[in-house]
Order: sequence, then structure tokens, then C-alpha cells
Amino acid sequence: MRQPPRPELSRRLLLSGCAAAGVAGLGPVARGASGPRRIRFSHVVSEDTPKGLAALRLQALVAQRSGGRMAVEVYPDAQLYGDDDEFEALRTGAVDLLAPSLSKFGRVGFPEFEVFDLPFLFDNLDEVRRVTQGGFGRRLLDGLHRQGLVGLGFFDNGFKHMSADRPLREVSDFRGLRLRVQSSRVIAAQMRALGARPVPLPFSATREALAQGIVQGTENPLSNFWTQGMHEVQPHLSLTRHGYLGYAVITSERFWSRLPGADQRLLRTALDEAIDFGNRITQTQHDKALASLRAWGRTTIHEPTMAQRASLARAVEPVYAELGRSIGPAWIQDVRRAIHA
Ligand code: SIN
Repeated sequence: MRQPPRPELSRRLLLSGCAAAGVAGLGPVARGASGPRRIRFSHVVSEDTPKGLAALRLQALVAQRSGGRMAVEVYPDAQLYGDDDEFEALRTGAVDLLAPSLSKFGRVGFPEFEVFDLPFLFDNLDEVRRVTQGGFGRRLLDGLHRQGLVGLGFFDNGFKHMSADRPLREVSDFRGLRLRVQSSRVIAAQMRALGARPVPLPFSATREALAQGIVQGTENPLSNFWTQGMHEVQPHLSLTRHGYLGYAVITSERFWSRLPGADQRLLRTALDEAIDFGNRITQTQHDKALASLRAWGRTTIHEPTMAQRASLARAVEPVYAELGRSIGPAWIQDVRRAIHA
């Protein structure tokens, strides 16, 4: 079962270790006198998820192809940095690679990324890929330069489902519920449209907040739900498939520009392969989590009927108009075009 992350302790230990070794002074592309070039990759989910496994694949590919000259150090489960401080850590050079969920870019100045949070936008992952792997995705990644960031690619976790301390079948079931959300205005508006109260919390605090009743429910893809042990504190899960959760892999221009060209190429190729691997295991990770949840047997799994799903979709439709201005109407128009291209 899941080991609860202890972010503060881990971070303190790591930072004191770095200081003792004089690593902090080595700059963003840290390299010891004879050791490998270290590339620190921090993320907030468990290793046994599409993101966790893709990060490990990247680590293995880089180790193998650089002959040990470069080392990707992976810090999962918010051991190093969490939702609240990982962007700052990247800017200051305390980490080199992140893969935040797309929902977390709005809060730090990229509201156009919240287009992915629009409820019931995508029917399947092929539609998502048309958006992320074409010109639309490229424009989003290019825009990250506004803050000295470099976008290296997108990949999927998958579709989100709702869980709570009660069955969620009809819109009326959401009334008054406190639901943990990521820090996305679109997701918050979606919960309000359902009559619920959105409570933005870091991912690493979610299970505990559910356990203590600070929030009564949440939404996530099943691999996150299972590996965080949320099923232990959520008696009901509804397979609503109401929204998408994916990631952008980012680094800082500072880190990237100091990397020799050959190493940039090596890292980029390895990353493309790791992303491709992550995308290929999305469905199996989902199926594995669902099978584990069914075997666990103590979380009741509800499958909404088509009519129930349609009424949920109708209830959240006003979010498109309400948040259109903040995302940017042109982004919404263009994502729809890209989906149907
Ligand atoms: C993640 O998958 O990186 C975290 C998602 C969340 O915060 O709900």
C-alpha cells in the first residue's frame, strides 16, 4: 500500500545534503568534479502511474545513452517540491524538469492551458493527441517562453472520475459537497455549476484532507486515485469521465541553454520516447487501477447512465461562457477546430 509522502522532511534532508556537498552553488546543470551531470526531475504522483513510470523510463534511457555521463534523478510523490512551490523551484534552478498537470499552469500566468479543463471537451484520447501533438500544442508550449520556460512535450494521464462520501449519480447529489480541486478556475467553476463547493488543495494534501473530512470528495484519473490510497477514504466512485488530465514537461531556459547541444538532443530524444511510453501505458494503468479497485471491493463503483452523464454535461455547459474570457475565446475556438481536424 501507499507510503505517505513526507515532503517537508524529504526536502530538508535533500537541501541539507546539497548544501553539504556544495551542489547548490553549481548552478542549474549541476555536475560534480567527476560525477555525472545531474538532472533533477520532481513530480507529485506515485511511481506506479503513467507520469511516474515515464519519468523512470526517461531516467533509464538517459543513463544508457549517455553511458552514465548524465543522470536523471527522479523525485516522485512531492518528496522534493509540491504544487505550491515546484514552478518557483524550476525558475530558481533548484530542479531541472517538471511535468505539472495542465490545470496548474493557469495559476502561474498561462490561463490558456486551462482550456484542457473544460468539462466534456474530449471524447477520447485520439482527440487529445490531435490537439497536443499539432500546431495548437506547439503554440501553447512556445508561449511558456513568456516566463523563461521551455515546453518539451505533452502526455496523458487520462480521463477523470468523481469520488465522494456518497453516490454521485445526479446533479442534485453534488449540492453543498466540498470537493478538492486543482488550482484551476475552470475546474472550480465546474464544481460550482454542479452546486458543489470547490476547495483548491495541493495534490499531496488531498488524501489527508479526504480522510479528515475537510473535503468530502474529489476528481482524478483512476491511477492517481488508487496509488494515493484515496479509495481507503472514499466509499463511492462514479465513472463520470467528465474531464481530461494531462501534463506538460517543462524546463527552464536557464537550464536548457547551458546544456551542450549534443546533450539537449540526447535528452529531447529520450524524453520523446519516454512520453510515447507514458501515452502507451495510460490505458493499461487505468485498467489496472480499476481492477484493483474492484478487487478491493470496499469502494462502491457507480457507472452513470448515458442520461445521467448527459445531465451532468448540461449542468456544466455554462462554464464555457463563464470562463471563456479568462481562457481566451480564440483558444477555445482553436481547440475545437484541432479536435475535429
Ligand atoms: C498529477 O497528476 O500530477 C496531480 C493531479 C492533481 O493534482 O489532481
